[in-house]
Amino acid sequence: MDYFYQKGTSLTTLVLLHGTGGDRHSLKSIAAAIAPAANLVALEGAVLEAGARRFFKRHGMNQFDYESLTEASLALENILLTVSQTKDLPLEQFVLLGYSNGANLASYFLQQRVTPVCSAILFHPMALGGTNENFSLATKNLWLSYGAHDPFVTASNFKQLILQLTQRGAGVTCFRHDEGHRITVAELAAAEKFWQTLEKTQNRP
Ligand code: MLT
Repeated sequence: MDYFYQKGTSLTTLVLLHGTGGDRHSLKSIAAAIAPAANLVALEGAVLEAGARRFFKRHGMNQFDYESLTEASLALENILLTVSQTKDLPLEQFVLLGYSNGANLASYFLQQRVTPVCSAILFHPMALGGTNENFSLATKNLWLSYGAHDPFVTASNFKQLILQLTQRGAGVTCFRHDEGHRITVAELAAAEKFWQTLEKTQNRP
């Protein structure tokens, strides 16, 4: 998994995780809209599915390869640690920002690995299965979006993900729209609002 770092002017670091078929540039305009001053770490998935870049393998629609998912989760953890150490940026002030496949990796990582990273903005994630960890997620503050006509994420799957997170103590804010898997203007505005609250409540120096 490759990553590209861009220095900002704030202490916050946004970690961008693209959807299937995306690349390191895919979420830059969203990052610029939400947090223009943040440092950026833009990741690029190493798995190619019919030429489309992703973070972990699957064997068909929603049939995930958990070995590949675990590898991707560890690779993500290593990148976050490397960036934090080499750029002297606190992991507590990293915010994961993922869409679809990237949101799934971010959500899996937070559920599987004990990490000081505590915030995430996840556009259209789903419950993946494959993790039996049950350590507390009480320090996490997560924002998740869902589309009522999403062809990939069913209402019950999204509900299951929310339950998985809240049962372990995570703070969860949900945004729902009546469309499919795409990010709408209202959705982006809601993510930006969450970001602003996060900035205030986390008492960043
Ligand atoms: C996944 O494979 O992570 C989900 O199905 C979302 C996507 O289509 O990438």
